[in-house]
Amino acid sequence: MSFNEVLTSKAENIEEIIRQYLPKEEGFQKTVLQAMNYSILAGGKRLRPMLMQEVFASCGGADEEILKPFMAALEMIHTYSLVHDDLPAMDNDEYRRGRKTTHAVYGEDMAILAGDGLLNYAFETALRAFDIADAGEYPRIVRALEVLANKAGIYGMIGGQVCDVESENQQEEISAGKLLFIHEHKTAALIEAAMMIGGILAGADEKRISALEQAASDIGIAFQIQDDILDVTGSQEVLGKPIGSDERNHKQTYVSIYGLQQSAKDVDRLSREAISLMELQEDSFLFQLITWLIHREK
Ligand code: IPE
Ligand code: IPE
Ligand code: MG
Ligand code: MG
Ligand code: MG
Repeated sequence: MSFNEVLTSKAENIEEIIRQYLPKEEGFQKTVLQAMNYSILAGGKRLRPMLMQEVFASCGGADEEILKPFMAALEMIHTYSLVHDDLPAMDNDEYRRGRKTTHAVYGEDMAILAGDGLLNYAFETALRAFDIADAGEYPRIVRALEVLANKAGIYGMIGGQVCDVESENQQEEISAGKLLFIHEHKTAALIEAAMMIGGILAGADEKRISALEQAASDIGIAFQIQDDILDVTGSQEVLGKPIGSDERNHKQTYVSIYGLQQSAKDVDRLSREAISLMELQEDSFLFQLITWLIHREK
């Protein structure tokens, strides 16, 4: 099988896992459940659960059952971040994952609540790992929950989004340190959660977890730089979301500050760094996945 075939089949498998954890669309609160499922089932690359699964396997994880609720939970948190990111008060974008974004279909009120619902349901979902684990695995699950909560929060993704929206419409050029802070937090934090949780649930030691965190930080920063590049050079048909969003919002991005050429070079450098930190062999799927992320068009 070619890399693309393997990628598609892995994404389909993850899709199935996510579906198993989605709420039933019933009850008086049905509208918000429909909006949640609409957002999460719109497709998407499923990169975060995929990285979690691959790292779990590469750290010798055998039984995937306790990993599955965490894979679904992380994709819920990522999806909520996108639903809120598209809101008129944030990036004000109408399309996401190839179709109208949540607020454009369900209204702003339901999009806010669907985001809240996805965030909370993510933890309700991750907690289900306790139902299937042996007591000996509880400490790993607690540690994984701690990482999930921390990387999604004010010292993680939310913190990055705060500085991202505050950097709009500024006369002064943002400092290199603050730009890096934005990328590290708004995007790399959830990628760090993915890879660290994969390692933690597989029983990797602290040294390995910390190498994974560093590699994930590089991958996440590179991933966001590539996202900023595609916002300029991509097309809505391929990306499934509008291009030119950053310029329209007068955002300071890696590309607006360093230019396309330097940005592409840095994506390449950071990805290489991650590959070497993880000591990946060229024929491994993780090596190919990270390399694909650099050249991705969506
Ligand atoms: C988009 O993430 C938001 C960023 C952090 C750049 P993805 O590019 O992973 O979006 P999906 O999940 O494939 O839609
Ligand atoms: C979003 O960054 C990062 C999130 C935490 C959602 P962007 O605003 O650049 O993501 P897109 O381009 O809308 O997917
Ligand atoms: Mg944004
Ligand atoms: Mg956006
Ligand atoms: Mg973007």
